[in-house]
Amino acid sequence: MGRIFSIMSGKGGVGKSTLSTSLAVYYARMGKQVTLLDGDIGQRCADLMLNVQDRVVYDLGDVADKSCELKEALLPHPALPNLTLLAAPQMLAPSDVKRKAMDRIITNLAEASDILLLDAPAGIGKGLKNLLGETAEPVIIATPDDVCIRDAERLAALLSQREEPRPSLVLNRVRPLWVRRGLVAPPDQIALTLDMPLMGVIPESAKIYKALLRHETALDCGDKKVAAAVEVIAARLLGADAPLPEYAPSPMLRFFNRGGEA
Ligand SMILES: Nc1ncnc2c1ncn2[C@@H]1O[C@H](COP(=O)(O)OP(=O)(O)OP(=O)(O)O)[C@@H](O)[C@H]1O
Ligand SMILES: [Mg+2]
Repeated sequence: MGRIFSIMSGKGGVGKSTLSTSLAVYYARMGKQVTLLDGDIGQRCADLMLNVQDRVVYDLGDVADKSCELKEALLPHPALPNLTLLAAPQMLAPSDVKRKAMDRIITNLAEASDILLLDAPAGIGKGLKNLLGETAEPVIIATPDDVCIRDAERLAALLSQREEPRPSLVLNRVRPLWVRRGLVAPPDQIALTLDMPLMGVIPESAKIYKALLRHETALDCGDKKVAAAVEVIAARLLGADAPLPEYAPSPMLRFFNRGGEA
């Protein structure tokens, strides 16, 4: 049975799919047997991010209602045969796939993988609850603003009611200069406030969106700092002691530049 990481967020659009597809490619390049389950029923996107959208024949919905075998729906990545994707259905609602079927699929996928990544839908609705198996390790991703942090806190509170591994935190779209200027709190302070172990910090980078336009993952966006951040997150999730970059506020910048543009 491999490790199962459920990449989730309280607020939508904060980088779950960006992170899960990048981690999937990273771990696969390390030689691990990786499965990415796109759990965003009705709004799949991992196939586009991995550029395999034209190859999808069956999806999670077909496996759940037994229209096909699990192995028929698993789509191998053309360049990385040890990375497979189970795409989300496009025409179903989260409540159409029952918890029992989801548990069965997750267990079967985890048995055949070293790493199973679950790209969760946003928020704390039915779609997420169905993905919260007993063994999935929750990874909450948030951006460093109060709106997103509050939603992350709510999600963590929901998770704390369950007998599951403690959630860890990834902060995304962090601008180091804004931290130094005191416009946003330092990542370690946010993690401390949320009482979650910090797995990594992904910088804001226009190259990530440009990579999305090319159907490439953030890992391959051409920004070395983004690739380094993914590497740190991948290592820390597996228990390695990869150091986090320093993001400290600067009293000088804080005094002179408060409110200024980056
Ligand atoms: N660090 C970053 N810098 C710049 N843009 C980013 C960064 N991370 C993600 N983005 C962009 O933000 C958008 C949303 O990312 P993504 O789809 O991964 O979020 P999500 O949490 O999966 O969204 P949803 O809740 O809809 O599933 C994408 O256009 C992506 O390219
Ligand atoms: Mg997504």
